[in-house]
Amino acid sequence: MTIAVCPGSFDPITLGHLDVVRRARALFDEVVVGVAHNSSKQELLPAARRVELARRAFVGMDGVRVELVSGLLTDFCLEVGAAVVVKGLRGGADFDHEQPMALMNRHLSGLETVFVIGSSELAHVASSLVKDVARHDGRITDLVPDGVEAVVREALGLPPARKEQP
Ligand code: PNS
Repeated sequence: MTIAVCPGSFDPITLGHLDVVRRARALFDEVVVGVAHNSSKQELLPAARRVELARRAFVGMDGVRVELVSGLLTDFCLEVGAAVVVKGLRGGADFDHEQPMALMNRHLSGLETVFVIGSSELAHVASSLVKDVARHDGRITDLVPDGVEAVVREALGLPPARKEQP
């Protein structure tokens, strides 16, 4: 049985994350979604909220669970018995960002990273862009799982989104 970890800051979880986790689950017996802290980012949502939203998004998905990563990713992988990390790539910029982390994780513990190419239809979906759209009162309904938009808007101090006109 091979366990994979899909780590990220998930601030917030997007449909792009769902796509990557589904692809990882198709390759490995169990996927642990690891909600971690990225020290180079200023997070909008507290970790507990990010975990809660991710758990809601994966309800009913067999072989997928969500956990908080409170320290080093390599220590977390050891704890859950994961042999591999899976990350999604939207393009070359993602690879440039991911490669040093993959090399560092291998340096620290021998952990391998497998990259999957996400759906091209979601190549523009990034948590940072989603937050920027929401911050400017744009709709993010079709970029994130159900319930996420309301939480993001509340965290940004915005009123609930207007209902879409029929
Ligand atoms: O979604 P992100 O922000 O690109 O994910 C980056 C993340 C959270 C996976 C990375 O910052 C991480 O692994 N954080 C946990 C602490 C850690 O192990 N840092 C060393 C990474 S090489």
